[in-house]
Amino acid sequence: MFGIRNVPLLLLLLIQLLHGGSALDNGLALKPPMGWMSWQRFRCITDCELYPDECISEKLFRRNADLIVSEGYADVGYEYVIIDDCWLEKNRDNKTNKLVPDRKRFPRGLNVLADHIHANGLKFGLYQDFGTKTCAGYPGVINHMALDAETFANWDVDYVKLDGCYANVSDMATGYPEFGRLLNSTGRPMVYSCSWPAYQSELGELPEFESLKQHCNLWRNWDDIDDSFESVMQIIDYFGKNQDSMQPHAGPGHWNDPDMLILGNYGLSYDQSKLQMAIWAVLAAPLIMSNDLAQVRPEIKGILQNRDVIAVNQDSLGIQGKRLLMKQNIEVWRRPITPKVKGEYSYAVAFVSRRTDGAPYPISFTLKELSLINDNGYVVQDLFDMNNKLGVFRAESQFKTRIIPNGVNFYKFTAL
Ligand SMILES: *[C@@H]1O[C@H](CO)[C@@H](O)[C@H](O)[C@H]1NC(C)=O
Ligand SMILES: *[C@@H]1O[C@H](CO)[C@@H](O)[C@H](O)[C@H]1NC(C)=O
Ligand SMILES: *[C@@H]1O[C@H](CO)[C@@H](O)[C@H](O)[C@H]1NC(C)=O
Repeated sequence: MFGIRNVPLLLLLLIQLLHGGSALDNGLALKPPMGWMSWQRFRCITDCELYPDECISEKLFRRNADLIVSEGYADVGYEYVIIDDCWLEKNRDNKTNKLVPDRKRFPRGLNVLADHIHANGLKFGLYQDFGTKTCAGYPGVINHMALDAETFANWDVDYVKLDGCYANVSDMATGYPEFGRLLNSTGRPMVYSCSWPAYQSELGELPEFESLKQHCNLWRNWDDIDDSFESVMQIIDYFGKNQDSMQPHAGPGHWNDPDMLILGNYGLSYDQSKLQMAIWAVLAAPLIMSNDLAQVRPEIKGILQNRDVIAVNQDSLGIQGKRLLMKQNIEVWRRPITPKVKGEYSYAVAFVSRRTDGAPYPISFTLKELSLINDNGYVVQDLFDMNNKLGVFRAESQFKTRIIPNGVNFYKFTAL
């Protein structure tokens, strides 16, 4: 079939294969990035007279950067403070064409804010858009990509989120990689978050994962999250349904992104908050909170700062978990994690109830059913309460658990 005439084609295929295996090599996001971002909670509030504590302004980001440290979030790994949309003047500078931060809300410019964030030991993230405008209508990068990449570097930006409003999706396959190359050529390491696949999935197109992996550290796969349990579950369903195409492409330096953590806002109960945190840990998702850190209740802060759940999220293997099965409206999600013992993974396993009938629902699985077949078995602990040790289980053992409606039970199965 492959005659001599096809040698160039074979070579091309081989080069593509070799090339396709490589990932973005900027040394960043080797674990899913953790931090805080303004969008979900603060949207495009720009009236600082009416909403002085909520408007997108230097003050908002200074205040939350300080809280990340003083409230203990930095100690457990939250690091990036990211300005989302609505930080810009409506026009570029008329002489230089440079982007201009809103003169009233960021009166001292962004370097002063970056310095403050860096002085706190944190990192500085900034939003822009690939198109002619940002989603909220401020100037986008499309005709000034090199200038804007350079400007970001001069503002000491450490993380760039590039949205995709007001752009043609067909231009993104070249445009997003190009902006990534321009970021690289500034010489300043910047995490690169791409929204490109979210716009492709809107059109029913399959994302170009090989290219995403080569050019982006993380990418938004689907819709924006809203402040509701329904929104969280829709995202979880999207990740479950599309896991076979998405999951293989996650790994150190390149992550699928189901969007922000909404814990600490209005939409989730205590137990639903645990559910988002547990599944984001299974998915190796970036843990980017969007909330008012001054308003987060202690019990929700406890979930956001749960070191054992965060350790699952940040596990060094960087393998994204999957929905393993569904039984009686209980979903089982499973992620391979360290320690690896004699070649066998340990696992984080989340039992998610989609049931709404009142009583906590008892369910039982053999470990074999959960494909947990390590010869020596596993010692099992409750990830939300590691002192709760459930004992040792082997492939034939029955594992019983009881889950409240719309709740999650989250366990660590450590291979023995
Ligand atoms: C720049 O030009 C725009 C459009 O011509 C105008 O509306 C704006 O006021 C100018 N900005 C400055 C700072 O001169
Ligand atoms: C998208 O493509 C159309 C047709 O080529 C063009 O008219 C339009 O200006 C493009 N829009 C953007 C935002 O680039
Ligand atoms: C730019 O890309 C090269 C090659 O992939 C990489 O070695 C380098 O670390 C990158 N630099 C920055 C600043 O991202």
